[in-house]
Amino acid sequence: MLASSSSTAISLHPLANYNASATPSLNPSSLSFSSSYSYLSPLSFRLHSSKTHLRITPKKGLRVSCSTNEPLKVMISGAPASGKGTQCELIVQKFGLVHISTGDLLRAEVSSGTEIGNKAKEFMNSGRLVPDEIVTAMVTVRLSRQDAKEKGWLLDGYPRSFAQAQSLEELNIRPDIYIVLDVPDEILIDRCVGRRLDPVTGKIYHLKNFPPESEEIKARLVTRADDTEEKVKSRLEIYKQNAAAISSTYSSITNKIDGNRPKEIIFKDIDSLLSQLLKDKTAKSVKPVLQTENCLDQASSNEEKWRGIPTRLNNIPHSREIRNYFYDDVLQATQRAVNDGRTRLKVEINIPELNPEMDVYRIGTLMELVRVIALSFADDGKRVKVCVQGSMGEGALAGMPLQLAGTRKILEFMDWGNYGAMGTFIKIGSIGAKEVDEEDDMFILVAPQNAVGNCIIDDLRAMTDAAGKRPVILINPRLKDLPGSSGIMQTMGRDKRLEYAASFESCYFFRLLYYAGTQYPIMGAIRMTYPYDYELYKRVDEPSGKEKYVSLSTFKERPTIDEINDAFLGKPRNKDKKASGIWGFLSGVF
Ligand code: AP5
Repeated sequence: MLASSSSTAISLHPLANYNASATPSLNPSSLSFSSSYSYLSPLSFRLHSSKTHLRITPKKGLRVSCSTNEPLKVMISGAPASGKGTQCELIVQKFGLVHISTGDLLRAEVSSGTEIGNKAKEFMNSGRLVPDEIVTAMVTVRLSRQDAKEKGWLLDGYPRSFAQAQSLEELNIRPDIYIVLDVPDEILIDRCVGRRLDPVTGKIYHLKNFPPESEEIKARLVTRADDTEEKVKSRLEIYKQNAAAISSTYSSITNKIDGNRPKEIIFKDIDSLLSQLLKDKTAKSVKPVLQTENCLDQASSNEEKWRGIPTRLNNIPHSREIRNYFYDDVLQATQRAVNDGRTRLKVEINIPELNPEMDVYRIGTLMELVRVIALSFADDGKRVKVCVQGSMGEGALAGMPLQLAGTRKILEFMDWGNYGAMGTFIKIGSIGAKEVDEEDDMFILVAPQNAVGNCIIDDLRAMTDAAGKRPVILINPRLKDLPGSSGIMQTMGRDKRLEYAASFESCYFFRLLYYAGTQYPIMGAIRMTYPYDYELYKRVDEPSGKEKYVSLSTFKERPTIDEINDAFLGKPRNKDKKASGIWGFLSGVF
């Protein structure tokens, strides 16, 4: 049991025992100036038309690459009559995905009198699930067809059991999003009993809710054999038995939607989720090239394997593919938040290379992250000011946190592409109201920190006041009150400072969890990308010597220590429990 010895408690202490030998040292982005500049240069920029992107890589000359524009892959789930088919009609109209409904496929087999149909019929008519092997074969064949690969797919009514979900996982078939329509039981029964289908157009009607448009249509409508009250109850029961097991497979991409509203309103929610996903995918397919070409192939294949979180995070320096995974993850979340009109944002990411408390902290990795975010917004036509706090006392470096010393100079020397972004779309500044110019569209603040005895909050507040509704994004801020030698920070305006620091909304959070005492190996991780839930992962060793991260749970708010404990111990959620025992010391951190 995890909690049975003191060495198994979790702490967020820095890694001490990392395996430095296992990764080739490709990352020159350390504080060492001589090596970092040569690495920082290969950032490319792109001139894009709708499909093809011209990438100009300063060190390598012109390179043309086609955007992959990978299509959407969507799963929709919900109880019988929750409105899956109805929403699918609307989704297909708008997004042109290939709709694969196992219910429709099976009904087609039944009405054609095929061998599959004859087998399926008795199960369907009694409201039971058709055996997995029949349905899975049908789905995988359909998914492998060219149209589904090209246009993307919308899977409706599959998977319906844990075994079906696992079959897809084994085949590496995974959706981008798992939509669950949530409707109270009593409504479902009425919807089923009143449902009618048009055998000519395939359109779904309801005698009360969506009556047919004409007498002619009304005359030809048919009722499904499984739409009696009794059969609906049994289908509902079976759905409930399976729902939790299936959703555990997709917890990190699940979006529950209230399905007890007018269908157009429900579709609005789905539309905005899918539109955002599409945007993200497009952005991903045109992200700046930060690696050599052969690395790209390797990276994408590994990302496939990671399924959410890269492995080998204890190997320092992180490989380029791992860094790129995080740059991209942070970028997507930040873009979503800014596109949603959020203006006070913070990114907190403490992989070993970005955790200033660790001996492996690399300012170059932080700079690269900032550059990816800044250039991406600049690429959308925004004028971005990247700001580092200046010294706050007498002398050039007085009051400057050690990690930030020299950072502004590095930013100025960095390669921002040879298309003149620096000085136009990208400007470098410091933190304070004076830095806010009329033409600036947004501000990225590099690791603002309270140095002992010097508080950045006043400058920061003045800056955000001046920025008004323009986005201000803090990257790895450390704004908590530190004890000052004079004691000033603890006393004057402390509440207000803390309140202000807390006013920045998290748009990205990633934190590794460690076992206390040992600080090795990694126990798990917490990840949140705006606007999704916090995901808790457990790191698991595999017999092959590899490792993987398994999703344990998701949380609307950042999980407390008790919630983490319970999830690791497999206990049900207990919101009233206070932090206690050998895991309790973590509560201070969260
Ligand atoms: P399937 O056809 O998938 O049935 P289901 O999951 O029970 O779902 P329904 O088709 O009944 O409902 P729906 O959510 O699509 O709702 P709809 O939009 O039509 O499966 C049938 C059978 O096939 C299963 O029982 C099983 O035997 C077998 N099967 C299928 N997949 C399988 C698998 N993977 N493994 C094993 N067996 C499998 O809407 C319902 C009604 O409500 C309509 O009248 C509609 O007009 C109305 N309505 C919709 N939205 C609204 C709204 N917002 N407000 C008011 N009314 C609404």
